[in-house]
Amino acid sequence: DMAIQSISKIRAIRFSNYEIETWYTAPYPEEYNRRSILYICEYCLKYMPSGYVNWRHQLKCPAQHPPGDEIYRAGNVSIFEVDGRKNPMYCQYLCLLAKLFLGSKTLYYDVEPFLFYIMTESDERGCHFVGYFSKEKLNTSSYNVSCILTLPIHQRKGYGNFLISFSYLLTRTEGKLGTPEKPLSDLGLLSYRNYWKQTLCYQLRDLFLDSSTTSVSISQLAHRTGMTCDDVVCGLEGLNALVQDPQTQTYGIRVDRALIESTIAKWEDKGYIKLEPDKLVWTPLV
Ligand code: COA
Ligand code: NA
Repeated sequence: DMAIQSISKIRAIRFSNYEIETWYTAPYPEEYNRRSILYICEYCLKYMPSGYVNWRHQLKCPAQHPPGDEIYRAGNVSIFEVDGRKNPMYCQYLCLLAKLFLGSKTLYYDVEPFLFYIMTESDERGCHFVGYFSKEKLNTSSYNVSCILTLPIHQRKGYGNFLISFSYLLTRTEGKLGTPEKPLSDLGLLSYRNYWKQTLCYQLRDLFLDSSTTSVSISQLAHRTGMTCDDVVCGLEGLNALVQDPQTQTYGIRVDRALIESTIAKWEDKGYIKLEPDKLVWTPLV
């Protein structure tokens, strides 16, 4: 609560060989919040008060990857699905870690209702945590992401976009439409707006530039992408592709071939990692 958070002195976390400055406070126990540096095991995510305790922990920690099921692997990138009920400690540690970079005031003890999707990059030592998103198990709403995080040391390299693509792949596999839980943070909104826009570029290219399709509806675009109609509209707006007929007041989609091709080319030039949908090994919870 506020009383605990206001006395937090944590300035940075020590994570693997990185020191990462924190952005917000998190409800760690008081004796940990009194430290300026918190040590966090990069594999089991346990937090520790000192370099000495961390060193002792590293000697005996058996984890070299997240718990749960590895449901995606392509090259050195994996995604693990971790059930909050089966691995409550790991998930609580994860939520506390994420809170250090999230301004919202959600509580972090009740992890049972959530699944956590952890993205790692592996080398000979183990699977290194890059980022994650969480998702409610029993979803009566259309939310397909609750919280999403890329560790600051890995941000702006396309991993957030990869995680977002993965969340929509799960949603399409479930045969649903999904949208991230609101409100989104500023960074979340920037990342989603970009994802929606890029995704619609690819869709419009595939539909119109490489084939003989002549029309498409918002709802068809939603079903092809797993995005809700509202988010499809947002993506189209980002491409200036939604136009209103002044006479009939109805909307149409205007496909600007040059804009779509240059937007895709610019994005591809970044060389960001791409999701390979056929590498998913997963069936939805029923
Ligand atoms: N400023 C401007 N645009 C940004 C941006 C930023 N800080 N972060 C993402 N974007 C947009 C850009 O278009 C970016 O492409 P570019 O870097 O080539 O310009 C695109 O989104 C993809 O970014 P990406 O590198 O895939 O995102 P990321 O790995 O940095 O992760 C978040 C994005 C939101 C997960 C990350 O910023 C984060 O963890 N923030 C803290 C937690 C949070 O706010 N989560 C969302 C609410 S739950
Ligand atoms: Na970048």
